[in-house]
Amino acid sequence: MTMNIGRMKVAELAFLLLSFLGASVSGKVFQTLSHLKPQHRDAVQSAAVQDLLYRLIGDRAAEFQVSVNSSLAAPDGLETYELRSVGVGKVAVVGSTGVAAATGCYNYLKYFCGCHISWSGVQLQVPSPLPRVPYTITVKTPNRFRYYQNVCTSSYSFVWWDWARWEKEIDWMALNGINMPLAFTGQEAIWQRVFLTLGLNQSEIDDFFTGPAFLAWGRMGNIHTFGGPLSANWMQKQLSLQNKIVERMRSLGMITVLPAFAGHIPQGLLRVFPKVNVTRLGGWANFNCTYSCSYLLDPEDPLFQKIGGLFMTEMIREFGTDHIYNADTFNEMTPTSSDPAYLSAVSTAIFKSMYNVDPGAIWLMQGWLFVNNPSFWKPEQIQALLLGAPIGKMIVLDLAAENSPIYQKTKSFYGQPFIWCMLHNFGGNHGLYGKVDTINTGPFEAMSFKESTMVGTGLTPEGIEQNDMIYELMNEIGWRSSPLNLTDWISGYSTRRYGQRNLNAVTAWQLLLTSVYNCTQDWKDHNHSPLVRRPSLRMNIDVCYNDSYLFKAWKYMYLAAPSLSKSSTFLYDLVDVTREVMQQLVTAYYLDIKTAYESEDLEKLMTAGGVLVYDLLSDFDDLLSSQPQFLLGKWLDDASKMAVTEKEASLYDMNARNQITLWGPTGNILDYANKQFGGLVQDYYAERWSLFLWCLIESLNTEIPFHQDKFNQAVSIVEKEFIYNGKKYSTTPTGDTLDIVKNIFIKYHPENVKDNNYLKLKMPYSYMKKHKFL
Ligand SMILES: *[C@@H]1O[C@H](CO)[C@@H](O)[C@H](O)[C@H]1NC(C)=O
Ligand SMILES: *[C@@H]1O[C@H](CO)[C@@H](O)[C@H](O)[C@H]1NC(C)=O
Ligand SMILES: *[C@@H]1O[C@H](CO)[C@@H](O)[C@H](O)[C@H]1NC(C)=O
Ligand SMILES: *[C@@H]1O[C@H](CO)[C@@H](O)[C@H](O)[C@H]1NC(C)=O
Ligand SMILES: *[C@@H]1O[C@H](CO)[C@@H](O)[C@H](O)[C@H]1NC(C)=O
Ligand SMILES: *[C@@H]1O[C@H](CO)[C@@H](O)[C@H](O)[C@H]1NC(C)=O
Ligand SMILES: *[C@@H]1O[C@H](CO)[C@@H](O)[C@H](O)[C@H]1NC(C)=O
Repeated sequence: MTMNIGRMKVAELAFLLLSFLGASVSGKVFQTLSHLKPQHRDAVQSAAVQDLLYRLIGDRAAEFQVSVNSSLAAPDGLETYELRSVGVGKVAVVGSTGVAAATGCYNYLKYFCGCHISWSGVQLQVPSPLPRVPYTITVKTPNRFRYYQNVCTSSYSFVWWDWARWEKEIDWMALNGINMPLAFTGQEAIWQRVFLTLGLNQSEIDDFFTGPAFLAWGRMGNIHTFGGPLSANWMQKQLSLQNKIVERMRSLGMITVLPAFAGHIPQGLLRVFPKVNVTRLGGWANFNCTYSCSYLLDPEDPLFQKIGGLFMTEMIREFGTDHIYNADTFNEMTPTSSDPAYLSAVSTAIFKSMYNVDPGAIWLMQGWLFVNNPSFWKPEQIQALLLGAPIGKMIVLDLAAENSPIYQKTKSFYGQPFIWCMLHNFGGNHGLYGKVDTINTGPFEAMSFKESTMVGTGLTPEGIEQNDMIYELMNEIGWRSSPLNLTDWISGYSTRRYGQRNLNAVTAWQLLLTSVYNCTQDWKDHNHSPLVRRPSLRMNIDVCYNDSYLFKAWKYMYLAAPSLSKSSTFLYDLVDVTREVMQQLVTAYYLDIKTAYESEDLEKLMTAGGVLVYDLLSDFDDLLSSQPQFLLGKWLDDASKMAVTEKEASLYDMNARNQITLWGPTGNILDYANKQFGGLVQDYYAERWSLFLWCLIESLNTEIPFHQDKFNQAVSIVEKEFIYNGKKYSTTPTGDTLDIVKNIFIKYHPENVKDNNYLKLKMPYSYMKKHKFL
């Protein structure tokens, strides 16, 4: 333990030991779910965790004795692990599953070695010899399942991943205690076989599938065709990836969730089966029927069971199964009838199509529809849909429980088991955001809710690789039976993340915790700024925090920089916090531009606009370009790497660019999946702002009022040009992050501007007023 004292405060240690005391378990136990468990023998799982440790810390892994003993989980089957010191400098980790053992390893690495693992980087200076564990520590999770992924994550984040990146992610899942991930890769290859069996020809199939970046919405029946077709190369690559993915997940003791048939069919099937009973759904999210309005097979049509059965059989033959399947029929789609009998028939048919092939089938359903369309989904409709499957044979994801928990409004999903999920992120956007207090208490409230049917916690972000902290926190919550002391926790987080205790960094994190990460309003997500939106004179500038705290946190990060400049996770955070500050500055300039225009002050308009477009956004792009996680070039390069022909490469390039900008052929959900990437700020956002300014200046000069519609038409050309600009973007960082941040800090931090008349001339009025240095 002595090794540790240098790294951690005594109070943190005491708190840690307290948190390790066994969990008391409440909530209902569903015997119907007892077969959802690892399939591999204990020895296979132990070997998989040992291999994971070697990937993580190389030869130091030999100092860990990892084993899996499934009988540790008796009698209630809840996963558990034990940590103790054995022999000289060795640590034994025993888990009831591979995931439990991996979680034990990471907790030891975190809380005894001061290490850290995240999407943006790792800090793995493992002390030698390994710090002693003073006595056997036993940790048990109160949650049967720790679920991971949103059906959209496959498109927003995983779409261009190769096996190396997947392997890292599966390791991250295991280390963070996740035992139930979606395994959605490669399902189109299975569908293709099924459609060919049913008599479709290749061009009808090609017409149906969307391109790679839009598969999530093709799968849910929201859209078809757009961005496609899928090549044979794509199919083959994804199939072989998926085989590796499910094998690795299972070897670590995870329960993989595979897709099932939800009822959406290609138009071509109407040619083969002209008498089939289908309804045509409406257009989804500003899409017309060219790429939307999918066909939904009537659940009582015999073809429903036939297609469902063929798909399940073929998929299980190819990938095996862990007996749990996801199907979402009405995700963001209004059913054609609100008759409870109809809704119940739909879910009965869906469940039956799983059960017919796999009698052990459990149906996992996203509860998003109840959040998204509450005017349709009244208690009667919800109950009918949920109870169409036998009690205990369906698990509902309370998908955005940190904002709109549904379990409270539905008597705990009318008896069906559910998982409390933090959605947190939409479209993989970059804004700093979180609801720390809610996630620190929400799951425990749900667990002790009257006749609670909660069986787990989960992460359901649409996109990942942002806001590392909030995901680490939520993953820890999944293994706890009471809330954390967040003040203590965040200070330990900062210390582990940077590999040393730095008071400036700790202070910065405390400030972030109580501001950007402590959103207390519902549905104030994203923390967007006008930066990533199409300019207009009526932009939403709300964020869910008081940005004085952000500017303070920025200063402390800046002060920490000289001591932490060797830490890659620190440099990432420094850029991320500076990025958040700069998006707030964009808001300030926007307000100045608007005021200047409205008061017809051409000079002020030109000053504010000029600084925004030529100075701030250019610095912004340089900032992002200096760190590997913020590069447009990487996103585009990953896409084209999946291709084997030029034609394919250019289709993937279009997919990759379109998703993060226009999202659809005509900007259908424009900028929904916006990213703050180096390259994108300069060539997309700044271009747009520049045109906006030009139009405003022109309007003042000519005295012809600014017309939003006309501007929209003009700017849509600029937006489309980005998709096909053919430009190559760097795949490696450029510039020195510290120099760039320093330059920005000197130019824009309120304390520097305060006494500098030259800087003041360039500062937005709203900003100076807010920071009280006019
Ligand atoms: C597994 O755990 C059980 C219960 O604690 C114990 O009786 C058994 O000896 C363990 N098996 C091994 C191989 O350690
Ligand atoms: C597929 O079938 C459609 C409808 O019969 C036909 O128009 C098309 O030419 C066929 N495509 C192929 C590749 O056979
Ligand atoms: C088609 O399905 C609808 C909805 O279930 C049903 O009302 C209708 O009777 C069916 N039509 C035929 C021809 O079976
Ligand atoms: C539907 O959308 C497509 C693709 O964007 C477009 O080409 C077509 O004109 C639209 N059709 C109608 C009727 O608006
Ligand atoms: C958290 O712990 C600190 C001491 O580290 C203590 O001052 C504070 O009151 C605790 N907060 C809560 C909410 O218990
Ligand atoms: C979050 O804000 C609420 C309301 O202002 C406050 O009561 C709470 O202590 C804050 N939580 C944290 C972790 O700062
Ligand atoms: C933001 O926080 C600062 C510093 O605590 C405070 O002076 C200011 O009034 C707050 N602003 C708002 C809008 O609450």
